[in-house]
Amino acid sequence: MKLLFGNLKFSKESVKTKFYLFYLLYFIVSALVVTAVKRQDFKTCEQSSFCKRNRAYADKLTANHSLISPYSVIQDSIIIKDGIISGDLINSENNLIFIFELHLLEIGAARIRINEKNPLKPRYDKAKDWALIQDPSYTLEYTLIPSKPDVTSLSFGKERKQAVSIYHSPFRVEFLVNDVPIITLNDRGFLNIEHLRKQDAPGLVDQSNSENDQVIEDENDLDKGLWKETFNGKEDSKPNGPESIGLDISFPGFSHVYGIPEHASSLSLKETRGGDDSYSDPYRLYNLDVFEYEVDNPMALYGSIPFMMAHRKGASAAVLWLNAAETWIDITKNKEDKHRLSSLLGFGKLTPTSTSTHWISESGVIDVFAFLGPTTSDIFYQYGLLTGFTALPQSFAIAYHQCRWNYLNQEDVAEVDESFDKYDIPYDVIWLDIEHTDGKKYFTWDTVKFPTPEKMQTNIGIKGRKMVTIVDPHIKIDDNYYIYKEAKDLDLFVKEPDGRIYDGWCWPGSSSWVDFTNPSAQEWLIKKFAFDQYKGSTEHLFTWNDMNEPSIFSGPEITMPKDLIHHGGWEHRNLHNLYGIAYHSATSKGLINRSNPPRRPFVLSRAFFAGSQRYGAIWTGDNFAKWDHLAIATPMLLTIGISGLPFSGADVGGFFGNPDTELLVRWYQAGAFQPFFRAHAHIDTKRREPWLFGDPYTGYIRDIIRERYALLPLWYTLFHEASTTGMPIIRPMFTVYPEDEETYAMDDQFFVGNSLLVKPIVNEGQTSTEVYFPGNEIFYDYFTLKKVQGSGKVQIEAPINKIPVFLRGGNIIPKRQRIRRSSAAMRTDPFTLLVALDKFGKATGSLYLDDGETYDYEKGHFIHLQFTFSKRKLISKSLSVLNNDENLYAQSISSVRVEKIIVLGLDLKPKHIFADCIDCSKNSKRELQFGLPTTNLANAVIIKGTDLLITEEWVIEFS
Ligand SMILES: *[C@@H]1O[C@H](CO)[C@@H](O)[C@H](O)[C@H]1NC(C)=O
Ligand SMILES: *[C@@H]1O[C@H](CO)[C@@H](O)[C@H](O)[C@H]1NC(C)=O
Repeated sequence: MKLLFGNLKFSKESVKTKFYLFYLLYFIVSALVVTAVKRQDFKTCEQSSFCKRNRAYADKLTANHSLISPYSVIQDSIIIKDGIISGDLINSENNLIFIFELHLLEIGAARIRINEKNPLKPRYDKAKDWALIQDPSYTLEYTLIPSKPDVTSLSFGKERKQAVSIYHSPFRVEFLVNDVPIITLNDRGFLNIEHLRKQDAPGLVDQSNSENDQVIEDENDLDKGLWKETFNGKEDSKPNGPESIGLDISFPGFSHVYGIPEHASSLSLKETRGGDDSYSDPYRLYNLDVFEYEVDNPMALYGSIPFMMAHRKGASAAVLWLNAAETWIDITKNKEDKHRLSSLLGFGKLTPTSTSTHWISESGVIDVFAFLGPTTSDIFYQYGLLTGFTALPQSFAIAYHQCRWNYLNQEDVAEVDESFDKYDIPYDVIWLDIEHTDGKKYFTWDTVKFPTPEKMQTNIGIKGRKMVTIVDPHIKIDDNYYIYKEAKDLDLFVKEPDGRIYDGWCWPGSSSWVDFTNPSAQEWLIKKFAFDQYKGSTEHLFTWNDMNEPSIFSGPEITMPKDLIHHGGWEHRNLHNLYGIAYHSATSKGLINRSNPPRRPFVLSRAFFAGSQRYGAIWTGDNFAKWDHLAIATPMLLTIGISGLPFSGADVGGFFGNPDTELLVRWYQAGAFQPFFRAHAHIDTKRREPWLFGDPYTGYIRDIIRERYALLPLWYTLFHEASTTGMPIIRPMFTVYPEDEETYAMDDQFFVGNSLLVKPIVNEGQTSTEVYFPGNEIFYDYFTLKKVQGSGKVQIEAPINKIPVFLRGGNIIPKRQRIRRSSAAMRTDPFTLLVALDKFGKATGSLYLDDGETYDYEKGHFIHLQFTFSKRKLISKSLSVLNNDENLYAQSISSVRVEKIIVLGLDLKPKHIFADCIDCSKNSKRELQFGLPTTNLANAVIIKGTDLLITEEWVIEFS
């Protein structure tokens, strides 16, 4: 979080004079510029010397077609062994030698690694240790394809449908599926590895263009930031000199690419050079605390996942650029290769647009994974096998969260908690921000405001609710603070280049930062969450990691100086984007480890990297109570979700500023369909708990929160699916309709799973909207259950009390419709099945449930049911063992019924409905009572009061 401009009152009462002066200066400077994002706080590519050099290199090659990449394979150096193809490359401009390895992986992907053969010292190569769950296994299923002497080609995979060709001179790698190229590396020759060197040694080829040379005046520009650079008066000493890497990755025939979160940008990524609607800077990946971020912008935000997916009719492909240093990605689209590609792809007269991308990182090695699909769900699975699937959360974590900076004291907490009951609004978790601590010393309590934290948590816990406190990574420098003292004594802090402990400014004033990339720091933090260590914590308490980019008010770009030193002597620049995941990982493990037997953790993090899905949820940081911020939440969350991190949300209501009631209601409606559903607000904003607005608005908010609770069985089932297959929870249209080009850039409507089509209303005063219904399928209005008339683009009414949500024919969704005050109170509630038939009178669905807390599901304690409707029969079959003493969960809900079944779209009205059990010896066939609604546009049949058990297999016949 960040202070708003002019918030001097807060600073005065809570921080020391030095800090106050710092802020006073900060505000004076801020006041001089226009509000919104302070762009001048953050670098452009032009201001980041390695980005500028690599862009200039690309420009040079693009401008002159007779220039080619100087990298080529040294003759006869290629060795093929056990799924690895390796060889040496030479750069003809400086005769330096590099090694490359191409790994053919069992998961249906390939990996290419390029490093200096004899670097002066090792280059950083540990991003993989954080992102990957293990070193992936190589496939032995490959065949050498006879080809020209200067090309090495292999096909691989069981059916040999995937292939790779390595072109020797210049070095170029092409991945093919069914003989069609889908990913090429160094196609445009932008491969560039700045080798490590001594400062006085020659060898760097001047790659900047002459136009730039003319404006070079001062010392920094003259050495082009090779050995040091300065930004906003802050110097980055660069003792290792230039060490950047760059490579172009092309997706021939693909006009849409997606991914590389986090940016406040569209789902289908925009061009960053040359196009009509082009950004001027590349997309940047560098975890930063960007104050009041702007929408439609490629600027870096809080998290980084260097994963990009491309999709077109019949094919999907993706890459992971495994690097944790500052990274920039240029995107251009071109039609140059249209003739060659058209014939290859059989497009006939169509002219495919190819997308080319240029990846530039400040340091490290080239380590790229190519996922070959061929479908988007194959890629989600392949990526999940590599970086881990999302952790199955506790069930409370997917319910509604109430947060603000800050709930003032225990009385305030009790009153908010009681008010939810009084106004009959369900909620699960109340959050405490930084003010709950003693002077922003995390793991402590302000004993005046929160004298009995255990009692407070117990009072919440009795109702099945939880509490979350914030635990940030900046540690107040204070020898009387046990956390500081321990970390200092154990030598866990990040250091200055001269070996002193780094000291920067953050919430507590002068602070230091623990180096969580140090295994000892991981182990230390894990222990700090033990109940006897974190005083005042109970099993009802969970954790929020904020400011873990890390955010440092006094640092360059409000983060850590790049020349600080981490464990192993590595400079911060190498691993910046790992700081957040390292902190998130230790916190999450701490919460698991504090209980015996272990319980599932809940940790919300602001910073993230590839692999963060294994540790918990993330949110999109400090958004604004404005309509455009509500609108951008959808593409941002869809993008994060397809990048392997499905458990995410945007603060409901907007963090900064005061939403009016219309915006707040619309935000709750959108938030109820985000995987992580939390309201949050800045300390300067007016209180905005749902009951403060009066009816009808409070009622609208109550209704949509209740709808979230009714759908929790569906959400939980989708989380289970994500945790086993990598499928996103909310899904872009193109992943559900991969053949429908109309959907490829669509990012204002989306699916929850495959069944609910949602279109949030994101414009002031809007009461109707156009919704796209693909595929000539049947859709039903989720709230009225009426059939949607028409397909394609249809105008839909959306009065203030209604978010457009549609049930897609062909789906069965499980609901729980009893109104309760928390999700815990719903554990043994009966179910409703909503069956929406498609054109063929068919539908399928599933339900996964377990105790929602422990890891007992790993031992078989869960239910997983498959529902199918076909030929006028609805069948519930179990995908697991139900009637077994080993399934304690099934036992615990053995008396839970399916109380209601609603079938939409039956062609003929049933005369009788019979239920029977499956594979049971007794003759148990009986007739069920049913009703037909009076306004029955969707031919609905409603069966109420059945005696069917959720833990039994049964069949219902509509005769
Ligand atoms: C293009 O590059 C070639 C090879 O280096 C060089 O001979 C030629 O002069 C360049 N052309 C231009 C227009 O710079
Ligand atoms: C986690 O808990 C286990 C069992 O209680 C203990 O042996 C282990 O040391 C703990 N790990 C850490 C890092 O504290």
